[in-house]
Formats: sequence, structure tokens, C-alpha cells
Amino acid sequence: MFCSDIPCHHGRLGAWGLFGATALLSLAACSRPAETPATTSASVAASAPLADMRLAGLYDRACASCHEVTGTGAPQHGDRQAWAPREAAGVPALVASVRQGKGAMPPMGWCPECSDDDLTTLIAHLRGVPQ
Ligand code: HEC
Repeated sequence: MFCSDIPCHHGRLGAWGLFGATALLSLAACSRPAETPATTSASVAASAPLADMRLAGLYDRACASCHEVTGTGAPQHGDRQAWAPREAAGVPALVASVRQGKGAMPPMGWCPECSDDDLTTLIAHLRGVPQ
């Protein structure tokens, strides 16, 4: 179901990023859904926000479905006002929230293969802060 083309929710990646994310989607979401991605050569240009194509793909497929869609009840990407009170609990608590699920967010936020490190990076991106 996730194998069709995905819309580019945040428009930050450009065509190359979308292509990479889509290509990774078919690999990550369809071919080996249960595997935990290791830190491998798939991680390229990890310095820029979500320049990591693997994480960008996970983000588009999972987190962006709610955190870039108003009306879902999710604190929106880069909405500093919405994130500030949640950040008071600390990043590890936010990671734990995603793992366990919270309110309308299902456990693992549709990213069963995400590691804690992945979630930490994705959460920083959502909060709109440097990782
Ligand atoms: C199905 C929709 C949905 C998806 C998918 C989703 N979220 Fe959420 N998320 C929510 C909603 C709704 C909330 C607000 C929950 C509440 O406070 O009741 C939330 C809250 C959060 C919070 C704040 C938790 C806290 O303790 O206040 C974090 C962090 C978060 N999401 C990260 C993520 C990440 C990272 C992903 C992708 C791996 C993700 N979410 C995917 C809907 C979603």
C-alpha cells in the first residue's frame, strides 16, 4: 500500500530527494519490511537535515502523513509553538512517546523499523531544530 508514488510533503528535498526517497521506499517498505536498517552505505550526505535518503523516505512514508497534515492533531513540522511544551519533557521522553504511541499516534508512528537514533533525528526534523 505504501509502494505507490508518494506526494512530496515538505518540498525541501527537491526532485533528486524525492526520487531517492521514492526509490528507498520501494526497497525499505516493500522488499524488507521487518529488517532494522543498519548504518550502511545507504547513508549518504548525512550532514544536512534529512539529507539521509533512508530517513527522508521513512519520514515521508510515516511521520509526514500526520505531522505535515493539519487536522490530524499532530504538532506540525516546524511549528515551534506546538513543540515547545512537548520539548520540556526532554528528547528521550519524546522518543519514548513515539515508541509507545500517544493519543492518535500509533506505536512507532508507522515506522516499525525506526531505531531510537532514527526517531531522534526524525523528531529533531519535526521540531525544526538542527540535529
Ligand atoms: C497516524 C498519525 C501519526 C503518525 C504517522 C506519526 N505521528 Fe507523531 N503524533 C501524532 C499525534 C496525533 C500526536 C499528538 C499526540 C497527543 O499529544 O495526543 C503526535 C505526537 C508526536 C510527538 C510528541 C510526543 C509527546 O510526548 O508529546 C512526537 C515526538 C512525534 N509525534 C513524533 C513522530 C515521529 C518521529 C513520527 C514518524 C516516525 C510520527 N510522529 C508519526 C500523529 C502521528
